[in-house]
Amino acid sequence: MNKAKRAAVIAGNWKMNKTPSEAKALIEEMKPLVAGADCSVVLCVPFVDLPAAISAAKGSNIKIGAQNCHFEPSGAYTGEISAAMLKELGVEYVIIGHSERRTYFGETDVTVNKRTRAVLDAGMTAIVCVGESLEQREQGITAELVSMQTKIALGGVSAEQLKRVIIAYEPIWAIGTGKTATAEQANEVNAAIRAAVAEVYGADAAEALTIQYGGSMNAKNAAELLDQPDVDGGLIGGASLKAEDFSVIVKAASR
Ligand code: PGA
Repeated sequence: MNKAKRAAVIAGNWKMNKTPSEAKALIEEMKPLVAGADCSVVLCVPFVDLPAAISAAKGSNIKIGAQNCHFEPSGAYTGEISAAMLKELGVEYVIIGHSERRTYFGETDVTVNKRTRAVLDAGMTAIVCVGESLEQREQGITAELVSMQTKIALGGVSAEQLKRVIIAYEPIWAIGTGKTATAEQANEVNAAIRAAVAEVYGADAAEALTIQYGGSMNAKNAAELLDQPDVDGGLIGGASLKAEDFSVIVKAASR
């Protein structure tokens, strides 16, 4: 199996942007621009925007995702949202372990694993983020580190559940900085992640896994990145807040 047989997935990560009415307006603007795309199109929006986003996207090819979820099914976790709550709304994707959550909200490889399993157990797709800091890249431990992050995140995930996992390689130094990894750097790390997954699940499962790149991917550089043999899609922050730019990236991923 090669890249042509893997699902290409372009996912927007809106982060803490857009109110529900703004979310509805942006999705209405995006719908005609991404209609007929030959890749999966996902928008991961703030929790409170989910009902408006799901209703706005109904009948279109846009799928809606969340940006986090708690690992416990219910209980005394003030301020948290469970996988079942998201599932009932019609959420299909959940970003897990974004570096902003690891940096600002104490997320660890262990909690990333728990959240990943909660998302998968609820029947949704997990977009699991891994990536190195600039210091770690300069130390030369990138491949080793992201391989370990990936293996820990997938602990206890069955081969069947792996079919609903997307890995997003996001070098921390490239997120929101305008500094993109080169296409070669992105491809090299994505290939290392695939090799790590192959060690645990075998070559066929690894070959079928969608591995995105994220970090300052935009309308200008998307085609070159997405052209790489191991880059199967993108997780897009800033550029996913602009309908036109986002649709250019979606077109670049369409085959
Ligand atoms: P960026 O964010 O595209 O704005 O760099 C990517 C991400 O954090 O997912």
